[in-house]
Order: sequence, then structure tokens, then C-alpha cells
Amino acid sequence: MHLFSYLALLAAAHGVNAQLVNPNKNTFGNVFNFWTKTTDGWDLTRGNATNAITLPLPDPRGQVMIQPASSALVIIDMQNFFLVRDNPNCRFITKNNLSQHPDLGGDPLGRAIIPTTINMIHAFRAKGMKVFWTNWGLTDFDLISMPPAFFRGFSSDGTSATSFGSDMGTIQGNISVGRKLMRGSWNAQPFGDLLDEQLAGVAHGSDFYFNKNRLSGMWGTSTPMQTFLQDNLITTLFFGGVNIDQCVWGTLLDSYYKGYDVILVDDISATTSPSAATAMVDFNAALDGWRANSTDILPALV
Ligand SMILES: *[C@@H]1O[C@H](CO)[C@@H](O)[C@H](O)[C@H]1NC(C)=O
Ligand SMILES: *[C@@H]1O[C@H](CO)[C@@H](O)[C@H](O)[C@H]1NC(C)=O
Ligand SMILES: *[C@@H]1O[C@H](CO)[C@@H](O)[C@H](O)[C@H]1NC(C)=O
Ligand SMILES: *[C@@H]1O[C@H](CO)[C@@H](O)[C@H](O)[C@H]1NC(C)=O
Repeated sequence: MHLFSYLALLAAAHGVNAQLVNPNKNTFGNVFNFWTKTTDGWDLTRGNATNAITLPLPDPRGQVMIQPASSALVIIDMQNFFLVRDNPNCRFITKNNLSQHPDLGGDPLGRAIIPTTINMIHAFRAKGMKVFWTNWGLTDFDLISMPPAFFRGFSSDGTSATSFGSDMGTIQGNISVGRKLMRGSWNAQPFGDLLDEQLAGVAHGSDFYFNKNRLSGMWGTSTPMQTFLQDNLITTLFFGGVNIDQCVWGTLLDSYYKGYDVILVDDISATTSPSAATAMVDFNAALDGWRANSTDILPALV
């Protein structure tokens, strides 16, 4: 905006405060980004009701209406590194030991949500809603700017030699695990059946893969995921994955800070952390946006 018109707007605002406030008290936001409160809930479609879907979420604030063309399912960190089975062969790992750290031992709760996650993926695709795979996928350039706290947090033996980018050796006799959480490595691939889902979805054009280099996939001035959201006018995000209190929460919270609608899906999220961590996320996610189970969403998508 030209400086003069900005100043004129400011002056006008001082004279008539109401001009910068939406005259409709049931509209929240501005002409570019707004919600509308309806008699029975919330309309998040931002004025495009074509093919809108109403979700009867378990929320005292009522149902939520979404625009499928501007909605996406965001699946976070369902990667081999976090979910690989803690079978005896894992102990053959030469440099890193997946068993030594609870996050690295393979999260059984994370594996348990896979069938439900796949049901959600299929239902989103059937309604033309995009599926995002937002995962750790570091480059050597990322390693140059990685903060000390992150190197420490992802060390397996307390030294930096086993942190990001270190060679994780071989498991199950012949799987080369690759460099820790580096883009393209086996350990950074989606786990089990999710890999097939991701490959098929990306090939088909319904799914999109975004690398991230922090817990959040939406931090800083921009990330691959945020650029895609902006380019494709996507505003409404459903979240699942691991860990609910770390990478899922980080990405959800940054998305909320940046103006996106956030809906946490309980039964496609899991964690290895103590239950208090999930309780904090549940409490705040409901304030920042909405919480639901897939069972609240799936019937509306068939
Ligand atoms: C409105 O929604 C329809 C159906 O989802 C979609 O095809 C169309 O692109 C949307 N229009 C705009 C301007 O976003
Ligand atoms: C890996 O961890 C397991 C379980 O803590 C332990 O039994 C095993 O000896 C460790 N292996 C190596 C190579 O450190
Ligand atoms: C690798 O292990 C798998 C599973 O045990 C086995 O099916 C496959 O033949 C092995 N490949 C090689 C090259 O040893
Ligand atoms: C999802 O289901 C679980 C298990 O039944 C329940 O504890 C939780 O409150 C549900 N979440 C919502 C948002 O209703």
C-alpha cells in the first residue's frame, strides 16, 4: 500500500474507529481471511459455499462448515525413524541404537493409528481434499544452521556423532537406515503401508510431500508447506501424526499463528510423552481451533 493511502487509512481509523471493524458482528476477520458465525456453528468457507461440507464436530460451539478445495489433511512425522518396529534386529544397528531412546525405539501408539490414518487419507482424497505429508527431511545445508539444542535432542548416545546426519547403519540384516532424518534416507520415509499411500497419492496428484527442518513444518518466514498453502489458497488444516505434543503441536501452533484454521484429529495422533503432554495439547488445540476424532469427520465425507 502506498504510504499516503496507509496514513489516510490510519487517520480515518482514528476519526471513525468502526471503519476498521467489520460491520457484521458475526463475521470474524477481514475480507481476505474471515470466519462467519452461523445460527448452528461456524462457516470457515470464506464465502465459497460450492460443495461445502458440514462437519458435526463434538464441540459446544456447534458444527463447522469447510470448503474442500481449501482444506487439507496434514500428516506429520509418520516416518520409519519414529515408528520402525523395535524388533531384535534393530539391536544390530552399528552406530545408533534405536532402542536406547523412547522416541527412536519405534512408537507402538504411533503404529496403532495407521489404519485410522489411512481411512482419513482415502476419505479426504475422495472429496478432492489434499493430503500433506509433512516430514523431517534435512539437507546438508540444514545441518550448517541447525541449533545446538536440536543436535543434542536428536543424539542417541549423548554425543553429536550420533545426531542429525549421522549414518544409522543397517537393520534387519539388509536395510540401510541411512543418515539420520536426512532427505531421501530410508529412516525419513513414511512407515509401512503409509509409504505406499504417500507414493501413490503423490503420483496421482492428490498428495503432497513437504520436507521440514524443525519440529514445526510452518516456522519462520516461510517453509515449503506454507508456500504451497499460499499458492493454493488453502486455509483449513486437519492435523494428525506423531508426536502430538511435539511436531504435530509445533506445526499446528505455527499454522494457527499464521492465520490458518486448525483442527486436531485425536485418533490419528499419538505420542511417546507422558499423558500430561497430550492433555496440554488437547486443552489448547480446542481453544485455538477445534478437536475431533476421525469418527466425527468420516461420516460427513462419504
Ligand atoms: C470454490 O469451491 C469450488 C468447489 O470446491 C472450487 O472448485 C473453486 O475453485 C472454489 N473457488 C474459489 C474462487 O476458490
Ligand atoms: C541397544 O539397546 C538395547 C536395549 O537397551 C541393548 O540391549 C543393546 O545392547 C544395545 N545395543 C548396542 C549396540 O548398544
Ligand atoms: C532382505 O531381507 C528381506 C526380508 O527378510 C528378504 O526378503 C530379502 O531377500 C533380503 N534381501 C537381501 C538382498 O538379502
Ligand atoms: C476421541 O475419542 C477418545 C476416545 O474415545 C476420547 O477420549 C476423546 O475425548 C475424543 N475426542 C474428542 C475431541 O471428542
